[in-house]
Amino acid sequence: MRVARIAPVAVLAACVTAQGSGAIFEPQDFNVTAALQGLGVDVSTLPEPNKPETSALSKRSFLAPCSLACTSLTILFGQDHVLSEGASAYDAFTGAYWSAQQGALNPSCVFKPTKTLDVSTLILIARLYQCPFAVKGGGHAAWAGASSIEDGITVSMENFKQVNVASNKQTVDIGPGLRWDDVFTAVEKDGLSVVGGRMAPVGVPGLILGGGISHFSNKYGWACENVASFELVTASGLAINVSPTSYVDLYWALRGGGNNFGIVTNFKLAAFPLGQMWGGQRVYLESTFPAILDAIHQFTVTGSSTDLDAAQIVTFASAPGIGKVAFANLHYAKPVVNAPVFDSWKNITSIQDTTGLRPMSGMAKLLNEGAPAPGAYQTWWGISLKMDRQLLQFIIDTFYTQEATIADVEKILIIMAIQPITEGALKAMQKNGGNALGLDPKNGPYFILNFNAAWNKKEDEPRFHHVISTMIKLIKAEAQRRSLDNDFVYFNYASEYQDPIGSYGAANKQRLASISKKYDPTQVFQYLQPGGFKLVKGAPNPNTP
Ligand SMILES: Cc1cc2nc3c(=O)[nH]c(=O)nc-3n(C[C@H](O)[C@H](O)[C@H](O)COP(=O)(O)OP(=O)(O)OC[C@H]3O[C@@H](n4cnc5c(N)ncnc54)[C@H](O)[C@@H]3O)c2cc1C
Ligand SMILES: *[C@@H]1O[C@H](CO)[C@@H](O)[C@H](O)[C@H]1NC(C)=O
Ligand SMILES: *[C@@H]1O[C@H](CO)[C@@H](O)[C@H](O)[C@H]1NC(C)=O
Repeated sequence: MRVARIAPVAVLAACVTAQGSGAIFEPQDFNVTAALQGLGVDVSTLPEPNKPETSALSKRSFLAPCSLACTSLTILFGQDHVLSEGASAYDAFTGAYWSAQQGALNPSCVFKPTKTLDVSTLILIARLYQCPFAVKGGGHAAWAGASSIEDGITVSMENFKQVNVASNKQTVDIGPGLRWDDVFTAVEKDGLSVVGGRMAPVGVPGLILGGGISHFSNKYGWACENVASFELVTASGLAINVSPTSYVDLYWALRGGGNNFGIVTNFKLAAFPLGQMWGGQRVYLESTFPAILDAIHQFTVTGSSTDLDAAQIVTFASAPGIGKVAFANLHYAKPVVNAPVFDSWKNITSIQDTTGLRPMSGMAKLLNEGAPAPGAYQTWWGISLKMDRQLLQFIIDTFYTQEATIADVEKILIIMAIQPITEGALKAMQKNGGNALGLDPKNGPYFILNFNAAWNKKEDEPRFHHVISTMIKLIKAEAQRRSLDNDFVYFNYASEYQDPIGSYGAANKQRLASISKKYDPTQVFQYLQPGGFKLVKGAPNPNTP
C-alpha cells in the first residue's frame, strides 16, 4: 500500500486501520518527500536534502542536516514556532528544564508544533534531512538527553494544552503540553480527578508513558493503565488512535514503553468523581524510625490491601540542625480524616503535620512546596525490592552511612523514598491486556526505592553519582542474600546508568522490539530520536560510577 500518496493524515490513519493488523504499516519503498506532499507541504519551497554521495565527496557543498531541517521548519511554520540558537526565547527554553544537565544541551533549534499535523510534518522533515530530534513534555526527566538534544531538533509539546471532559464525564482528553497541576485544576471543575502525578509541575506525557505512580494507584493501577486511548503520530507521520481495541499491540507497548513508538499528541484518560480528599505530610525525628519502619512494612504487606483508597510514600533525609528526618506522605482518596488504614501512624509523634482535606490539585501544590527550583543539577535513581522489615533497617542504615561520606560536598538535598507497589496496583495493572512492565502480581507486593540528589556545582556530579550507585550496590547485594531482590527498575526514576526496559524481562523487551519494527521499520524512534531509554540498547551510559 502506498500510504504516502494519500492525504490527509486522518484519511491515512483510517486507511491503515481498515487494513487490520496484518497489513504492512510502512512499505519498504516509503517515500518521505511524497509523504510530505501528502500532508500538503510544498516541498519545492524547501532546501534540497544532502545526497549521500555529497557528504562523502565534497565537504564544501555539504550543509549540516539539522541546519537544513531547521531552515525548512522555519519556512513552513515561521519564527514564532522555531527558536534558533542565540535567540532569547531559545535561552529561556533551555533554562526551563527541571535539571541543569538537560538544560546544558544546545539543540540546533527548538520546534513548537501546535497541532497533530505539525507533528507529522516534523517527523518527516527529520527523516528527509536525517536530523535527529528529542521530544520534551514537562521536561522533568533528570538526565541529559532524556528530552533534550545537542545539535538536533528539540520538539516542545508545550502548545498541546487541551483539557476536554467527555459529556458523560467518563473520560477526559488531555494534551502532552500540560503539567499535572493544570490537569487536576481543570477536571475538578467537573468534580472529577484522574490517575496522574503527585507533584504540581511535573509533565503529563513522560509520567504516563513510563508508568505513572499516583495516590490513586492502589485502586486503579498506574497512570498508563488508565489511558482509554492515545493519539500517536508514528514514524511515517500517521496519526493513529491506540486503544484496547485498536492497535492492541501498540496499546500494550505504550504502557511503559516511553518514547519508543511515536509522539503522543493526546491522552484520553479515564476519569472518576472526586471532591476533597485527605492527605499531606508528617515530619518525624530519628527516635521514631523503628515505629516508622514498622508502619511502612505493615502498610505494604497487609494494610494497603485492606483499603484501596490509601497511599503512602516515606522519604528519608537529613535536615541541617535537626539530623535524620523522615517525611511520611499519607493520602486517602475520600474526605476521611485518619482512616483506620493509617492506624499504625497514629501513635508516632510528628514535629510537623500538613495532613488535611483538599482537592487533588491542592495536594499536588502542597507536595511541591520546598522542592528545589528548576535548574539545579539533579540525579534520580530507582530500584525495586520485596518487602521485609529487617531489610528496611539495612536500607536506612546504608543510606545514612553512605550519605555521611559526602558530608563535605555542598548540596541542596539527598533523599531516599520508599513507596509500595501494592497488591491493589499489581492487580489493576492487568487491566486491558496488561502493561509492558513485567511485574508479576504473584511475587508482590514490591516496593520502590527512589534516590534523588540536587546540587549547584557541575563538578560535584561524580560524587553524587558514586554515592548513590554505592548505596544501590550494597542494598541489592543484601537483598540478594535474603532472596528479596527484584529486577524491575521504574522507567521514570531510572538514571542514565540503569536499564528500565531490560528490567521488564527478556520476553517483554523482545516483544517491544518486534512491535517497534512493525510500526517503525526504519527505527526512527531508536536512531533518529536517540534520547531516552531505547529498545536497541541497555543503559544509555554503560559506565556505572
Ligand atoms: C519533582 C518530581 C516529581 C515526580 N513525581 C512523580 C510521581 O508522582 N509519579 C511518578 O510516576 N513519577 C514522578 N516523577 C517522575 C516523572 O514521571 C518523570 O520525570 C517524567 O519523565 C516526567 O515527565 P515529563 O513530561 O515532565 O518529562 P520529559 O523530560 O519532558 O519527558 C520524559 C520522556 O518522555 C518523552 N516524551 C515527552 N513527551 C512525549 C510525547 N508527547 N510523546 C512521546 N514521548 C514523549 C521524552 O522524549 C522523554 O524521553 C517525578 C519527577 C519529578 C522531578
Ligand atoms: C519520491 O517522491 C517524490 C515526490 O513525489 C518524487 O519526485 C521522487 O522521484 C520519489 N522518489 C522515489 C525514489 O521514488
Ligand atoms: C496507640 O496508643 C494507645 C495509647 O497509648 C494504645 O492503647 C494503642 O494500642 C496504640 N496503638 C498502636 C497501633 O500502637
